[in-house]
Amino acid sequence: MPKDHGVQATQAGESVEELKIAAITALDSTESGEQLEAWRVGFLGRKGRLTGLLRGLGSLDIEHRKVVGAAANSLRGELEALYEERSKQSKSSQAPVGSIDITLPGRRPALGGLHPSTQMIREITQAFNEMGFQTIEGPEVELEKYNFDMLNIPANHPARDQWDTIWVDSDTHNDVLLRTHTSPMQARTMEANDPPIRVVVPGKCYRYESTDATHEWHFNQVEGLAVDEGITFADLKGTLYEFARRIFGSQRKVRFRCDFFPFVEPGVDMSIEWNGNWIEILGAGMVHPKVLENAGYDSTKYTGFAFGMGPERISMLRNEITDIRHFFSNDLRFLTQF
Ligand code: PHE
Repeated sequence: MPKDHGVQATQAGESVEELKIAAITALDSTESGEQLEAWRVGFLGRKGRLTGLLRGLGSLDIEHRKVVGAAANSLRGELEALYEERSKQSKSSQAPVGSIDITLPGRRPALGGLHPSTQMIREITQAFNEMGFQTIEGPEVELEKYNFDMLNIPANHPARDQWDTIWVDSDTHNDVLLRTHTSPMQARTMEANDPPIRVVVPGKCYRYESTDATHEWHFNQVEGLAVDEGITFADLKGTLYEFARRIFGSQRKVRFRCDFFPFVEPGVDMSIEWNGNWIEILGAGMVHPKVLENAGYDSTKYTGFAFGMGPERISMLRNEITDIRHFFSNDLRFLTQF
């Protein structure tokens, strides 16, 4: 479409039909008020194409003149109507320039808030902070050494399988992965510090698995670790009981059962009573002597306990959320309920 939006000097012999098509096509491509005005002048103005066509009628014989004249006049009516409509549209869609419309009612600005996962993480870490645990964080892109080896997870353990672990493609390294749990921070913390240690570690974890209502391929965990001389299983139980009371209420019933994790011995899982059922909320255990030794600690002198839990799962329980995927789908209808 040429710049003048189809407005050209009247051509001799232009038919009403041709003019109609040209006018409508040109009108469609007008974008501003100025272009619309140029269109009006070009087609409907005193020197416009339609007027030109009407003027040319005189040279036609009487029969033709009648027919073409009637058609041209009806086209004028049509184009005028289209022009009116278009100019109304362009007025309503154009913001007033250099002014504000003080007649618009005020709108409440949308306030942001903390993500439900963040809220849960803060509540959990605060409960442990009050019991003397310090909050620290660690890398999400991790080395195989920390995610598996130092945690006493053997080379042939199924968790290392490519179906569970997201490995990072690299030309130079074949031991880089997205951490599958926050437990590598047990190894990192012990490697870098001497006892006593009391830390909680919130953070994102990743697993190569398909998603459903209770599984996500990425999620948060909160890890905990306490190492010192003379720490016993009673300390583990006392600390986690107290945690459950703080998060789920002082009357909450809690149950421990034996479970297996390669980096603890003995290992347990902890469940809480929930609507008549036992719901597992975390894994825990006494730090395995090999894990202490791997970090350079004397396992005859030091003992410790560790635990790990999923804040999204705990939030699901407390808030009656039925699908973990809500946490990561960024739907404001979900997020604004917190
Ligand atoms: N890392 C374990 C998991 O992801 C949880 C855990 C942490 C268990 C610490 C025991 C001790 O399932």
